[in-house]
Amino acid sequence: MTVPSPGKRGRFITFEGGEGAGKSTQIRLLADHLSGKGVSAVVTREPGGSPGAEIVRHLVLSGVGQVLGADSEALLFAAARDDHVHNVITPALEQGLWVLCDRFTDSTRVYQGKLGSTDINLIRAMERVTIGDLKPDLTIILDVPTEVGLARAAKRRGKEAPDRFEAEDFGFHQRLRDAYRQVAVDEPERCILIDATTEVDVTAKHVWNVVQQRFVELREAHLLETNGA
Ligand code: TYD
Repeated sequence: MTVPSPGKRGRFITFEGGEGAGKSTQIRLLADHLSGKGVSAVVTREPGGSPGAEIVRHLVLSGVGQVLGADSEALLFAAARDDHVHNVITPALEQGLWVLCDRFTDSTRVYQGKLGSTDINLIRAMERVTIGDLKPDLTIILDVPTEVGLARAAKRRGKEAPDRFEAEDFGFHQRLRDAYRQVAVDEPERCILIDATTEVDVTAKHVWNVVQQRFVELREAHLLETNGA
C-alpha cells in the first residue's frame, strides 16, 4: 500500500539544530520508517540539494561569503534556496512525495539573523522571493548541549579543517543552541524540540512518534495495515 495518492501534495518536514546534532542520521532513519509505511520521501539538504545550489554550498562553506559581508552571505544562502525550492522541493511535493530537508529557512533566521547582523526585514524579503507560501508542515529541532554537538562534529570531520561555521567559537555555538530553543518556543504549532543526546535509536523513535502523531494519514495507514488492507 502506498500512502501518497495522485493529486495529493506530499508533506514537507525540515530538520534544524546546531553542529553535530545528528540531523542527517535522523533524517535517514525517518525516511526508512516512512518507506516502511509505503511513503516515498526525498531526502535533501541546504545549502545545496540541487546542482546549482550545491555550487553555492561549496562557496559559502569555504568562507567566501563571509569575506563579501554578512548580507551578501545571506543572499548566497537565498540564491541556493531559490534553486533548490524551484527545482527539487516544490516539484517533489507536487508529485505527492514527502520531502525531508536538512536545514531550511530557520537556519537563515538563526545563523544570519539572530547570530549574524542581517536585518529580519531583509530575511523576510528573501523568504518571499525564494519560498513564497511554502512553509514546512513540521520542523524538528534536534537539541544537544553545545559541548556534545561540537565534540560530535569534530569526530565526524576527523583530520579535515572545520568549515566556515564550525570554526566559530564556543560562545557562538552556545547562542546558536539558545536561538533554536527559542524558535521552538515561538512557533510551537510548527516546531518540536527533541532531545538528541540520547542513543541514535532512542532519538529516532522519538522523532517517529512525533511524525506519526502529526500526520493523520500515517495513523490511517497503520490502521489499514492492521486490518489487513
Ligand atoms: P553542513 O555541513 O550541512 O552543516 P550541518 O551538518 O551542521 O548541517 O553546513 C551547513 C552550514 O551552513 C551550517 O553550519 C549552517 C549554515 N547555514 C547557514 O548559516 N544559513 C543557512 O540558511 C543554511 C541553510 C545553513
